[in-house]
Amino acid sequence: MPLFIRHLPKDDTKRLNFTGFVMVAAVSFCIVSSLQPRQATASSPDAPGGSSAPVPLEAEEEPTRGSVVNIIVIGGTGDLSTRYLWQGFFNLINEEKNQAFHLYAGSRMLQEDGEKEMKLILERNVSCSKVPASVAMTPEECERAKEVYKEKVTYHMLKKPEDYVVLCSNIQHTMRSVGLKEAGRIFYFSVPAFAYEGIAENINKVCRPAGDAWLRAVLEKPFGHDTASAKKLSSALKEHLAENEIYRIDHYLGKTGVQSILPFRALNEKNYGGIWNSENIERVEIVMKESLDSKGRIYFYDKYGVMRDVMQNHLTEIMALVAMEIPSNLSSIHDYQREKLALLSQVDHVTAEQAAIGQYESYVDEWREEMDKGEDDTSSVPTFAGVLFFVSSPRWKDVPFLMLSGKKLDEKQTYVRIVFKNSHFCTVTPNYAEGDHACRQKQIIFFIGSGNHPTIAVSRALRKPQVPKSWSIPDLDPDTNILGSPVKDFYAYSAGVELDAYSVLIKECYHGNRDKFIGSSELVASWDIWTPLLRALEDVPPMRYPGGKETGRWLDMEIQGRRLRSCHKNDRTWNIEDSNRFGMPSISGIPDTFRSNNLYTGSKEDTVSLLAKHLLVATQSAISSHGAFHVAFPGGNTPEMLFLHLFLRMRHTFPWRETHVWLTDERCVPLDSELSNFNVIYSKLLRYIPIPYTNIHPMPVQLAHGLCNLKDGGPELYSAEIKRLIPDQRFDFVVLGVGEDGHVASLFPHHEILVDKTNFVLFSDGAVQSSSPRRMTLGYSTINNSRNVAILITGERKRFLVEKLKQTHFKNATEFPVLGVAPNNGTLSWFIDHDALV
Ligand SMILES: *[C@@H]1O[C@H](CO)[C@@H](O)[C@H](O)[C@H]1NC(C)=O
Ligand SMILES: *[C@@H]1O[C@H](CO)[C@@H](O)[C@H](O)[C@H]1NC(C)=O
Ligand SMILES: *[C@@H]1O[C@H](CO)[C@@H](O)[C@H](O)[C@H]1NC(C)=O
Ligand SMILES: *[C@@H]1O[C@H](CO)[C@@H](O)[C@H](O)[C@H]1NC(C)=O
Ligand SMILES: *[C@@H]1O[C@H](CO)[C@@H](O)[C@H](O)[C@H]1NC(C)=O
Repeated sequence: MPLFIRHLPKDDTKRLNFTGFVMVAAVSFCIVSSLQPRQATASSPDAPGGSSAPVPLEAEEEPTRGSVVNIIVIGGTGDLSTRYLWQGFFNLINEEKNQAFHLYAGSRMLQEDGEKEMKLILERNVSCSKVPASVAMTPEECERAKEVYKEKVTYHMLKKPEDYVVLCSNIQHTMRSVGLKEAGRIFYFSVPAFAYEGIAENINKVCRPAGDAWLRAVLEKPFGHDTASAKKLSSALKEHLAENEIYRIDHYLGKTGVQSILPFRALNEKNYGGIWNSENIERVEIVMKESLDSKGRIYFYDKYGVMRDVMQNHLTEIMALVAMEIPSNLSSIHDYQREKLALLSQVDHVTAEQAAIGQYESYVDEWREEMDKGEDDTSSVPTFAGVLFFVSSPRWKDVPFLMLSGKKLDEKQTYVRIVFKNSHFCTVTPNYAEGDHACRQKQIIFFIGSGNHPTIAVSRALRKPQVPKSWSIPDLDPDTNILGSPVKDFYAYSAGVELDAYSVLIKECYHGNRDKFIGSSELVASWDIWTPLLRALEDVPPMRYPGGKETGRWLDMEIQGRRLRSCHKNDRTWNIEDSNRFGMPSISGIPDTFRSNNLYTGSKEDTVSLLAKHLLVATQSAISSHGAFHVAFPGGNTPEMLFLHLFLRMRHTFPWRETHVWLTDERCVPLDSELSNFNVIYSKLLRYIPIPYTNIHPMPVQLAHGLCNLKDGGPELYSAEIKRLIPDQRFDFVVLGVGEDGHVASLFPHHEILVDKTNFVLFSDGAVQSSSPRRMTLGYSTINNSRNVAILITGERKRFLVEKLKQTHFKNATEFPVLGVAPNNGTLSWFIDHDALV
């Protein structure tokens, strides 16, 4: 147990001394241990810090009865159990040789099938080669132990509450019949989270151990998908289980690299305590790169995405371990949790500007296949994210914490890197061969799991670290490098063979070390950090990346103050399905009609996709006739999916360089206001596409005299801009939404500007007239002069509106401004989805 001395129960040495004496074989379970009686443990109900671990007492003094720990794996035939848990419990009983265990497997499988399945799993998926080397056993002994293990796991079908009654009276009965005292019970919930509450209820009702034996329930993530759902789940569980009975597992906390962080910091307090701060640290990187894609688990993944899948939990935990204050008493879970919670609550609110998200290119195809979706359906779940955090504490003032993770990247690698500032200037060219490292980068890197990396690498430009005696210096090829720096620049140490994280945590749970698990408050604190960001990014389309080595520098990031910017270049191209820019889509099928104009309909996605294709087709004739394509977009929610489609599907095929984007209308608010239509178009589309800056035409609502001041003549300026750039003053395409009151652009019912037949651009208000304008809008003369006008209406909430529009006798544009849209020499098309049309 390198480094983790603090987690050993106080009397662990004693325990080890008695291992031989007690002579209870690991796999002897109840029968044998009852023949070799041990003194009962007087275990207190789960006191923190491991003191509740069953500890055999001086056997000579008063040989009474032995104690048993009952382990119940719910979902015992599932994938996680098969892969890790049964091996983990096998390792546990071999390591804890003087504790007797009874094991039970439960699942929804019928009794007979479940029994068979369990036998198979224990035979095939538990292996002596995976027992830690620290367990002294010959291979023969291990094989024998495995045979016994196979016989000792009892299977119970667990479907209905009655099944729990049967299981637990069975446990109780066994305890009585062999005359053993129960030390405690571990219930491992290896089932989907939605089942937790029901199971916890059953356990509380009928499965609590008698007397002072403890109860521990181990739960797997996901623990909710945002603050509210995490709280809801927590309070539902609290109905049935006490907080100190709940062990939320994050298997990253069982990884050697992660477990090393805090003890290493404590051990090296003298060396690095003084530089572990904003004066000396330039930034901290927490990186988890995966080379695999999400194939095979998209059903789960698509609901979560990279931030919920690994960043909110694993990486946030790691960030806390690097950044929290070192608890004054390392053995006290209270001190530990207090410091961790303090750190998490100091993390500043994260805005969308501080994040960059991506999706590997083949994801959508994999998604369509696994989710049985059509060609035009799409998912915008991020498979990559970079997020910049800041911590408001004196220690971390303005230090960026860059957290980054993604699927299908160039390599599999997880690490935390603390990069120090280096103000050392070398006047003489340093001679590195002679140990002259001062000018080199100063950094400390913790590698987490996998690979042939050392566990910790510390730049030689820093003080030599202290490490536990059990650590070794790995034999690294001198020509290799560590994150780009030559290996000889580092002091490197290896903490030994990486143990399986589940085995490690199963043991921690048995010892009652709750600091290796996630408490409710930390869980909520972590969701509090992530929830606002997830919400802010909900409608931001991820940038697509090719995946694998192809990705190149595409996902490189730049920290600009408090912003995180992606540095990819827009001229980068790669093959995508419809990458032939000149291969225009054909629009097939004869459209229906609506109010004597063309009607295009389908699901919302289909409808939007058709509109996008119309736009693309229109670019062709526009560019060939006058070298540019002028389109006016509205703000509001309606076009968001159109923007998403243009970005996801047409980012590389649409002739953005020749496209000019105008606005149909704008609110009299600053352009960076959330209410600004331009801001919507910018943040949902323009910022992601390679459109020249000079082709973007926001309405001039804020000029010298403020917002929409009549003195500034904003509408005249916009008209002049239209006249200057559009030779015949005819827009190639105008996209409009319709409000429930029939307004289009900002042409509202009964407003005087509805009769204005000359002005291209006007000030407008809502229905209520007021002296200071609240909006700027294109007038009918501009709209009706366009070559193409598309009216997009989607969603159930627009049914009433569409019903109204279906009444063709209804024509009064003063009452219903959309009815005044009638291109004088162009096409009007309606794009109405099924939800709105039926
Ligand atoms: C269990 O072992 C079998 C046989 O070795 C193997 O095919 C299977 O993939 C394993 N299951 C898991 C979940 O690891
Ligand atoms: C540290 O915490 C442990 C566990 O709570 C406790 O037993 C021990 O006395 C504490 N040590 C000090 C110095 O307070
Ligand atoms: C349209 O409605 C307005 C007000 O409701 C009315 O004044 C006007 O005469 C109507 N126009 C037509 C052509 O019916
Ligand atoms: C739109 O243009 C058409 C054709 O010029 C015209 O008939 C119609 O009145 C215009 N609509 C309004 C409200 O000005
Ligand atoms: C109508 O538009 C076409 C092409 O868009 C153009 O050739 C024609 O001159 C226009 N007609 C009028 C009357 O403006």
